[in-house]
Amino acid sequence: MKNFLESERLYLREISKEDLPLLFELHSDPEVMKFIRPPETTIQETESTLNRIFKTNKYEQGLGLWICHEKNTGDFAGWFVLKNLDDTDDIEIGYRLLKKHWGKGYATEMSKELLKHGFEKIGLDKIVGATRFDNIASQRVLEKIGLKYTRVQHVYNTDAWIYEGFNPSKV
Ligand SMILES: CC(C)(COP(=O)(O)OP(=O)(O)OC[C@H]1O[C@@H](n2cnc3c(N)ncnc32)[C@H](O)[C@@H]1OP(=O)(O)O)[C@@H](O)C(=O)NCCC(=O)NCCS
Repeated sequence: MKNFLESERLYLREISKEDLPLLFELHSDPEVMKFIRPPETTIQETESTLNRIFKTNKYEQGLGLWICHEKNTGDFAGWFVLKNLDDTDDIEIGYRLLKKHWGKGYATEMSKELLKHGFEKIGLDKIVGATRFDNIASQRVLEKIGLKYTRVQHVYNTDAWIYEGFNPSKV
């Protein structure tokens, strides 16, 4: 299968049923899930998550969740997403990486490519990011890719800090 997107050190590909163990490894880590929700504790729980992902993916529109690998090693690194923010019309960028891959600049590196895809390929006017007020690493990533804090908004049953970035060719 053709890679969806590439950066200097990483690539993204479509998610499939076979990715269940990788997703479980990521979603069952309490540190990874600290600012998101309780970790998943059974493979069945992660299977439900995977089925939700299949339902919300709109690959034909260039939107969805993609599995991320290191180019050098082929190692699973995590996932990136470009999709509707909760039940709003806004499109959000998101990321979740295995702990062993934190602090290498990976989230920033691939998010820049995903942002470019959203603006240049899909032609979105705006892309948002939503994080908890205390998720500093995620806020830093959003800032480094050029998004700006705008407001607190109730999404995904919590109050999130919303960052926004606008399509440079449309402003
Ligand atoms: C958020 C996450 C994807 C960041 O991935 P990453 O590849 O380590 O991010 P980057 O290396 O590109 O950038 C992280 C930045 O945050 C900074 N940072 C990380 N932890 C920090 C902390 N506790 N306090 C202050 N800054 C912090 C890093 O120094 C870096 O900034 P810098 O380049 O200015 O030094 C990763 O931590 C993760 O997967 N977390 C769990 C899932 C999650 O919370 N996802 C986001 C939900 S909104």
